[in-house]
Amino acid sequence: MKILITGANGMLGKDLASLFESRGHAVIKTDRKDLDITSRDEVLERVRKIGPDLVINAAAYNFVDKVEEPEIYPLAFAVNAEGPRNLAEASALSGIPFVHYSTDYVFAGTKPEGYSEEDTTGPVSKYGETKEAGERFVQEIGGKYYICRLSKIFGKPGLSEESKESFVALMLRLAETMPELNIVHEEVGSPGYTPDIAKATLELLNGEYEPGIYHIVNDGRGVTWHEFANEIFEIAGVNVKSNPVTSAEFPKPAERPKFAPLINNKLPKLRDRKEALCEFLGG
Ligand SMILES: NC(=O)c1ccc[n+]([C@@H]2O[C@H](COP(=O)([O-])OP(=O)(O)OC[C@H]3O[C@@H](n4cnc5c(N)ncnc54)[C@H](OP(=O)(O)O)[C@@H]3O)[C@@H](O)[C@H]2O)c1
Repeated sequence: MKILITGANGMLGKDLASLFESRGHAVIKTDRKDLDITSRDEVLERVRKIGPDLVINAAAYNFVDKVEEPEIYPLAFAVNAEGPRNLAEASALSGIPFVHYSTDYVFAGTKPEGYSEEDTTGPVSKYGETKEAGERFVQEIGGKYYICRLSKIFGKPGLSEESKESFVALMLRLAETMPELNIVHEEVGSPGYTPDIAKATLELLNGEYEPGIYHIVNDGRGVTWHEFANEIFEIAGVNVKSNPVTSAEFPKPAERPKFAPLINNKLPKLRDRKEALCEFLGG
């Protein structure tokens, strides 16, 4: 297959590209310089010229707090909502499948049992609003779309300077210089390992799955940031004191969903998160 991957230098994009290449596919990898997904004309023209069999969008504007700034919001909306709409439209015109990634931040975080694929969205942040709009636009375009929601993703860093640092990398970096860390013991989510997300994406495209919304998360109960940090420190053998704090004690511009573990009801379970963390951290 010929596959176009946008945002191919991001943390997830680079793992998607290497997995699909390793399976013998011809992968066209683009970053913002090669193909700005916010430009409808550019997207329609490039997809028509390249003639891929599949488009995967791993590009996003992920700086959650910055999206609260009125001068940044239009850029985030363009990348997170209009970009996927353009790619979905180009894919639908070519009659090919389109894979797009979304987030647990489309949910309010108030449902005690967590969120399944068909649950109603209700973002509490501007970032969540842009990602929810992206989901809606892709659904409105129709076609063979696969919207994959992810949460707290970790893996080897992206190749792009704009790529967002993962929480795992942030914790290990802070622990190098600080003997004690205050970490929010709220905002429960379901972390996902990027090579495992790439494998699940490949599986999703094997012909058995209907277009729609999917939740791709490693198996295991949802964790707060504090609990996730403790798993990271334990597996990496890092000795640092981690103090649980409330989100009110750690104020940030954007509100986060308090409890939004993603429930995967539609795909085979991914391996356990701790197993994935062990592989990643070499534990
Ligand atoms: N990070 C998380 O914890 C998390 C959690 C839940 C969901 N997700 C979702 O997972 C997906 C992958 O995230 P990630 O963390 O791997 O992203 P990432 O590392 O931050 O990479 C995003 C990439 O998007 C590209 N990009 C930005 N604006 C663009 C534009 N206008 N046109 C084309 N490319 C553009 C950047 O490309 P350049 O190389 O040109 O800079 C960058 O490499 C995203 O949909 C994200 O919303 C992430």
